[in-house]
Amino acid sequence: MSSKSEQMRQIKDEIVNLKESPLYEYRTNSGYYPVIGQGNHDADVMFIGEAPGLNEAKTGIPFSGASGRLLDELLEMIGLDREHVYITNVVKDRPPDNRDPRRNEIDLYSPFLERQINIIEPKVIATLGRFSMEFILNLFNMPEKDQKISQLHGRLLEGQAPYGTVYVLPLFHPAVALYQRSQRTTLEEDFKALKKFVK
Ligand code: URA
Repeated sequence: MSSKSEQMRQIKDEIVNLKESPLYEYRTNSGYYPVIGQGNHDADVMFIGEAPGLNEAKTGIPFSGASGRLLDELLEMIGLDREHVYITNVVKDRPPDNRDPRRNEIDLYSPFLERQINIIEPKVIATLGRFSMEFILNLFNMPEKDQKISQLHGRLLEGQAPYGTVYVLPLFHPAVALYQRSQRTTLEEDFKALKKFVK
């Protein structure tokens, strides 16, 4: 078995050359990067967002815009930083005009995410927003999979990954909290559930 870094590089190469993606031409015509993921390949804590936005597609770095600054503040609050966690998205290329990712896009890109999860083997996956929550709850066939994010946010759920037990913490997307003070407070409270995974 090749090293984690080699397996991650393989994933990157495949995504870079993913010509069958409906987002491939838009990426190359715009001079954008795919956003593969960032962080520690041995992380206990993994964050999964939805899809890259404009800043992310310009830099190739997940959560590198305003939502990312909030994410960094939340990480700092619980004593973590980007070097200790792994951050990625379900869809690895930017959908035009920040529209929601489509079903066919999620289906095409999610096997890469699954591989990333099985390489990193995180103890906890924090989903950011509804799309990644739904994807992960379905992936692990969790009993909560039909419930809404409004019911599940901040609750540490127990699932079974191929490599063993994994906890899933549904969180609201930080973009929502940028414009609503009350949502920010909720996100801060919910984030505290990650503290027990901080060494
Ligand atoms: N929103 C996301 O869901 N992912 C990013 O990487 C940036 C913004």
